Amino acid sequence: MPTVTYETRKGRLEEYFDRTASETWARLTSDAPVSRIRATVRQGRDEMRALLLDWLGADLTGRRILDAGCGTGALAVEAARRGAEVVAIDIAGSLVGVAAERAPEDVRARIDFRVGDMLDPHLGAFDHVVAMDSLIHYPAGDIARVVASLAGQASRSVVFTFAPRTPALTVMHAVGQLFPRSDRSPAIEPVAHETLVGLLGQALPAARCARTQRVMRGFYTSQALEVALA
Ligand SMILES: C[S@@+](CC[C@H](N)C(=O)[O-])C[C@H]1O[C@@H](n2cnc3c(N)ncnc32)[C@H](O)[C@@H]1O
Repeated sequence: MPTVTYETRKGRLEEYFDRTASETWARLTSDAPVSRIRATVRQGRDEMRALLLDWLGADLTGRRILDAGCGTGALAVEAARRGAEVVAIDIAGSLVGVAAERAPEDVRARIDFRVGDMLDPHLGAFDHVVAMDSLIHYPAGDIARVVASLAGQASRSVVFTFAPRTPALTVMHAVGQLFPRSDRSPAIEPVAHETLVGLLGQALPAARCARTQRVMRGFYTSQALEVALA
């Protein structure tokens, strides 16, 4: 599957999350005080994580879950608390280090933290793959191809988020283009829901786009989509 755009974006994201924004990201995902703007992002992300976990289910005993692009590991920890066996992988080694340090004793044995590409074919088979905000920097075509590839390793569902194309996000995206490249985080790629569903239909004809829900909190906007496989 890897396309030139996928490999190029992945390289930039690794640089950004592993080095440039590693400390900022670790702080955002902790309880430490943050600015009012970042507090809205934290709140939105907490809501999104709770939504995705609700979709996976309250009792995950015996399920294998891939947390694709796990960052500092909050979702992996909660899934393991619900009984799942989790493989949590991220290209940013420094964030995986934070995730492993933060994982509480009672769930540590059920989470296998890895540094690497979420598309590594050697990760094994899973019931569910979850990718929270880890595909938002890839173009729509790559998102569909990545989801189709992840679906090849899952038996029940792939749940992921994308940045919905809204007027507000389009403006924020345009303003972001005004800043010199070195000052900016990697661009978020807003995608129209229908476009993504169409591309997913082509990449993965057997799958069904099931639930979808948008979370909007201040400066955080993201949309969850569940691709049902069973
Ligand atoms: C916005 S953060 C979200 C992290 C985590 N899912 C969360 O919600 O806290 C995106 C993460 O995806 C990771 N990522 C992006 N592309 C990846 C890839 N191809 N393989 C593994 N990790 C990836 C980045 O390194 C980053 O940690």
